[in-house]
Amino acid sequence: MSLSTAFGVRMSGIASAVPDRVLTNADLERILDTSDEWIRQRTGIVERRVVDGERESQASLAMRSLRTSLDRAGLKPSDLDLIINCTVTAEMTCPSNACRIAAEIGATPVPAFDLVAACSGFVYGINVGESLVRSGRFRTVGVIGCDLMTQVVDYEDRSVSILFGDAAGSVILRRDPDTQRGCLYQAMGADGRGWHSLYLPRRAREIPPEDADNPIRIGCLRMHGREVYKFAVNKFREVIEDALEKTGLKVDDVSQFVCHQMNVRIIDAAIERIGLPRDRVRINIDRYGNTSAGSVGVVLDELRGDGALREGDIVIIVAFGGGLTWASSVWRL
Ligand code: COA
Repeated sequence: MSLSTAFGVRMSGIASAVPDRVLTNADLERILDTSDEWIRQRTGIVERRVVDGERESQASLAMRSLRTSLDRAGLKPSDLDLIINCTVTAEMTCPSNACRIAAEIGATPVPAFDLVAACSGFVYGINVGESLVRSGRFRTVGVIGCDLMTQVVDYEDRSVSILFGDAAGSVILRRDPDTQRGCLYQAMGADGRGWHSLYLPRRAREIPPEDADNPIRIGCLRMHGREVYKFAVNKFREVIEDALEKTGLKVDDVSQFVCHQMNVRIIDAAIERIGLPRDRVRINIDRYGNTSAGSVGVVLDELRGDGALREGDIVIIVAFGGGLTWASSVWRL
């Protein structure tokens, strides 16, 4: 597939940040009516990372990751000309955390905004950032995906709280003279008709009638697990097959399939149905749980650390989540 644009885009400075504190299934057994065996079998999760809410915030974890991204890309904060912070767990909606992050790292007055697309957020952010660089309007865009999901789950709700953890990932998207480098194909979608499968209500009046008796606290995530599961399994296959078809790529041309980590059974189902090679689908949900917009960046950073992302490699990145939303991004690195 060849791209007829004036600029290419390099994905550099791949980084991530996770809190130090580990919450194991055994820890959850002590506070919930659950078991390590149930959690492992149904989700593949063994442990997750949890912020200290007194000391850390979405902005601080996001910033840690972005600073590492800048170091790895050999850049200063003032080299950025846009910051996109993808999250559903910013402390406030006004100002956006992106504005505070920009100020804190010394990148003002760059434009900065938060992007809300739940677990698809980071892939949405990469697609938006890449398009802005490729268009020539921006040169150097910092994209962060970071969620502190443990701050918005009710630890009395065993069906939701066991799934989630906290993490940040980030990349720097930079203008590159090689026009064939960057995003070869991207797709994003949303179907708001399914919003009530997964939502974070701020007021009681937003709760749909079918959930009226649900005792989960306001301000905490509500989820209809089976509906989300079905959506994700089907969408996973659809977006990967669409990406392969539109680019003319074969599974063997792709060096890594980087997937949002929502449940190991959902990833396994996609591997089986599409026939993806297991050694090219990184799974780390066992150690981090589902970290929403953080998960894809953590996977990318692990692959980077292992030397599994090389110049010229083709990588397909996919994610799905609340909205309902989904996104894919096919890269030549
Ligand atoms: N420990 C022990 N038992 C639990 C439990 C827990 N943590 N959570 C639920 N259960 C029980 C239920 O109460 C139910 O019991 P019952 O049969 O006596 O009523 C039983 O386990 C089955 O519950 P169900 O919700 O049908 O389980 P499931 O197989 O669908 O698995 C999820 C639940 C949440 C793991 C699964 O639906 C899922 O992963 N969905 C997708 C979620 C997701 O990815 N969300 C993020 C989107 S980005």
